[in-house]
Amino acid sequence: MPAIVLIGAQWGDEGKGKATDLLGEHVDYVVKFNGGNNAGHTVVIPTASGPEKYALHLLPSGILTPGVTPVIGNGVVIDPEVLFHELDGLVERGVDISRLVVSANAHLIAPYNRTIDKVVERFLGSRKIGTTGRGIGPTYADKMNRIGIRVQDLFDEHILRQKVEGALDQKNHLLVKVYNRRAIGVDEVVDELLSYVERIRPLVADTSLLLNDALDAGNTVLLEGGQATLLDVDHGTYPFVTSSSATSGGACTGSGIPPNRVERVIAIAKAYVTRVGEGPFPTELDDADGERLRVNGHEFGTTTGRPRRCGWYDAVISRYAARVNGVTDFVLTKLDVLTGFEQIPVCVAYEVDGKRFDEMPMSQSDFHHATPVLEYLPGWSEDISGARTFDDLPANARAYVMALEEMSGAQISAIGVGPGRDEIVQLRSLV
Ligand code: GDP
Ligand code: IMO
Ligand code: MG
Repeated sequence: MPAIVLIGAQWGDEGKGKATDLLGEHVDYVVKFNGGNNAGHTVVIPTASGPEKYALHLLPSGILTPGVTPVIGNGVVIDPEVLFHELDGLVERGVDISRLVVSANAHLIAPYNRTIDKVVERFLGSRKIGTTGRGIGPTYADKMNRIGIRVQDLFDEHILRQKVEGALDQKNHLLVKVYNRRAIGVDEVVDELLSYVERIRPLVADTSLLLNDALDAGNTVLLEGGQATLLDVDHGTYPFVTSSSATSGGACTGSGIPPNRVERVIAIAKAYVTRVGEGPFPTELDDADGERLRVNGHEFGTTTGRPRRCGWYDAVISRYAARVNGVTDFVLTKLDVLTGFEQIPVCVAYEVDGKRFDEMPMSQSDFHHATPVLEYLPGWSEDISGARTFDDLPANARAYVMALEEMSGAQISAIGVGPGRDEIVQLRSLV
């Protein structure tokens, strides 16, 4: 049976959590393959007593589906304090977390990396990235620099101490001499990390082996990406990106599942675009329309509460996402948020210094200066949240979706019309 990859097509917060939850009952494993608690996924589940809302950060969204085995893959960076806080919160609400498995090769976000993330941002001033301040970038930097601490290091106190000493030898110079902060003691870090050992031990496994065995046995594995294509460290709007591989290629390196197991790549795209943090955003709106998208779409970050920057749908970005990820299906979310606009502009190309770009410009300098070439599509005023088939949508909403499909480089297989699990128009099966 196949592995399926699910990723964000834009700058994050497209509704990946909801889509993963939707697919949950058709899959056996849900694997988070990149990022950490910089992610924020809101999932709304219908229950007998009304809709229940969950905000997930570090855990795969599949943890909410009974019977699914949620896996934190090797490509993830784990803040153990956040891991157990999030698990405790779910247990309190009656969620069964007993199947969770954590890769022995995942890296840990050490306390000094949270500190460094914040002081570096302050130091950068106007050149800041607008990170979530969770220590994500410094932890991935340590991984590449080969001074990272991995989950498996927790089980060898001697090695753990040696690694923390080695890392702090460098970090304390930086913290004290460059950033004017206090030095961090080896003991305080080692003691904090060791305090998690007994709790994490039963969760830890060779997850690449586990997942490949599961695929051999006929199970379906969903690889759930955090962040999104334009936040990918290689393919995103560098340097205004996160520090992991959020595109479909990262699903393989971040899980230990080879590319020839992947049969489907599902990209989640909002019917407009949002971005949190700094960096270029050609279709961004600074006007009443932008405010209307923010308010109607509740566009405030799940992780940091920051207002999200809002703009019109950008087909250049979607085509780019289709190309670099090998997208087989788009899920178009939040179509309901566009209800009531008389006409809806869509970006079909960019203009940079009088030159038209139908594809993403090669250079970031050009992308920073790109202005959108807009096409105007007629809007609709009917409430579409009750639509469950394509024909339930008003003609102009159908035409909007079809126009987007035409420009975006892959078929649109489902359409979100509200935050709830059932608020979806499914055009074809995704599993
Ligand atoms: P993720 O990070 O990609 O999982 O997305 P977030 O959870 O950060 O942000 C998406 C938000 O949109 C969440 O609050 C979802 O509940 C909500 N959402 C998802 N799909 C839809 C939809 O089709 N319509 C509306 N109105 N809200 C949606
Ligand atoms: P989900 O999974 C939106 C952004 C931050 C910042 C940049 C780098 O919910 O879609 P980092 O803390 O990762 O070093 O910050 O990336 N960012 C996100 N934006 N959704 C996310 O996750 C994000 N995760 C990181 O705002 O601009
Ligand atoms: Mg989010």
